[in-house]
Amino acid sequence: MPQNFDSNEYTAVTQGNEAKALSAENAANPVVDAVPMKITFEFTGDCNLHCFFCDCEFGRNEFRKQGVHKFAMDETMFRAMAETAFPYVSVVNPTVIGEPMTFPHFDIMLEYAERFDVKLEIVTNGMLLKNPRLERMMPLLDRLTMSFDGGTKETFEHCRTGSKFDVVIRNLEQFRDLREVQGLIKKVKFTFGVTLMRENIEEFPAIIEWAHKLHVDEVSAGHLLVFTKELRGSSLFEHKALANKWIIKAKEKAEELGVPLTAPALFDIEDATVLEISHRGQGLDGEVGATGMLPRMDHISGPIVSDVPNRPQEVMAQESPPPAWSKEKGRYWCQFAWRQVFVNISGDVAPCCHQSRPVVGNVFQQDWNEIWNGKEYQALRKGLHEGKPMPYCASCSLLAEQGSVDYNEEGYIFEDKFPDQSRADQRPDKDPNSKRD
Ligand SMILES: C[S@@+](CC[C@H](N)C(=O)[O-])C[C@H]1O[C@@H](n2cnc3c(N)ncnc32)[C@H](O)[C@@H]1O
Ligand code: SF4
Ligand code: SF4
Repeated sequence: MPQNFDSNEYTAVTQGNEAKALSAENAANPVVDAVPMKITFEFTGDCNLHCFFCDCEFGRNEFRKQGVHKFAMDETMFRAMAETAFPYVSVVNPTVIGEPMTFPHFDIMLEYAERFDVKLEIVTNGMLLKNPRLERMMPLLDRLTMSFDGGTKETFEHCRTGSKFDVVIRNLEQFRDLREVQGLIKKVKFTFGVTLMRENIEEFPAIIEWAHKLHVDEVSAGHLLVFTKELRGSSLFEHKALANKWIIKAKEKAEELGVPLTAPALFDIEDATVLEISHRGQGLDGEVGATGMLPRMDHISGPIVSDVPNRPQEVMAQESPPPAWSKEKGRYWCQFAWRQVFVNISGDVAPCCHQSRPVVGNVFQQDWNEIWNGKEYQALRKGLHEGKPMPYCASCSLLAEQGSVDYNEEGYIFEDKFPDQSRADQRPDKDPNSKRD
């Protein structure tokens, strides 16, 4: 692995890599002769909050039962992963199910990002987004997504259980001002990620107002995924008329304030579940999806990326438009299939973070190309392009939310996944049932 590139060389290598990945996507090639443009690692699965609807704690509980109590990658393993992957990828997202700012080696990660000119995508609850770290992190960011699930203190703190609304707003104001002072408005994207549910749907327009006040570039809202029976009542699949009403109001507010908004399509009240999909979570070998973390921290061997042709400057991973073929009738396109990959603490690789995703390989046990261009990946890419998606894609909430397939409850309701778990103990005093329509 090259350790002595100067910054310009890295830039050229990354750019070339991105061009190759996008060209494979444009040609709908099932084989991609480039490293993924973006890697989402699971450097930590720990979190400082306990949002009542989040499945992270369920995932951790599963591993606690197996005697695993450590959810952050240790420094040696983290350094090994960073040194193998950071020289080549354009964008790194350091967490899936945890809070990135709690990662004990976060500042070392910033050093790696600086050294290898990698841009970071941070998805955060905002509680720890403070100086002096913020100041240092800002120029390294590609995008900061703030998970913002309430337009009032009461609802925000109810949904983002354990958070303090005033602290989050103060931190975001600091972020807004610093991004402007550092002249990074065009380079660092600032997004709100909103999980829509019964508890916050009536505040969707107020969330748009906050986005406007905080100079957020775009708001991206999606439906709650249901993991336990208790969460059923929080799903807007149970409150379709109410959801439609407030989604329309939020769209109007966004238009009025000029805030770009991606929101779920309105429910077809007459016929809301259209697809007939029954094989959720099966890959080629019938392997059922990866859940959260699978910490197996005992060994590290083999590079994540074995051979890297080239490397980036302008980070295009998020910005490049979908390929022309994705507009053709009957074709499905997904931003993950050709461009991105997910690697968890144990080295398991999944194509995305969809709940039913299959594990397609392990970076500690296989050559990278064997995974990235292996049977499962090729079937995934071909399936999307040929309009015959793998079962886990066909029920995917992401495809439904981008309008490629119709809503199908299977993509949203997973309450059988953690049958014996309950978040009742973590719910704050407010009873969500009292707000139901
Ligand atoms: C798991 S969190 C991890 C990053 C960080 N801790 C945060 O909250 O932004 C990533 C995103 O998943 C969302 N999320 C958590 N549980 C969800 C659920 N049951 N359905 C849909 N989205 C969920 C969160 O709201 C957050 O926006
Ligand atoms: S802050 Fe993020 S990871 Fe933590 S509990 Fe909430 S949604 Fe889950
Ligand atoms: S399951 Fe969804 S997000 Fe994952 S690869 Fe398929 S379409 Fe993309």
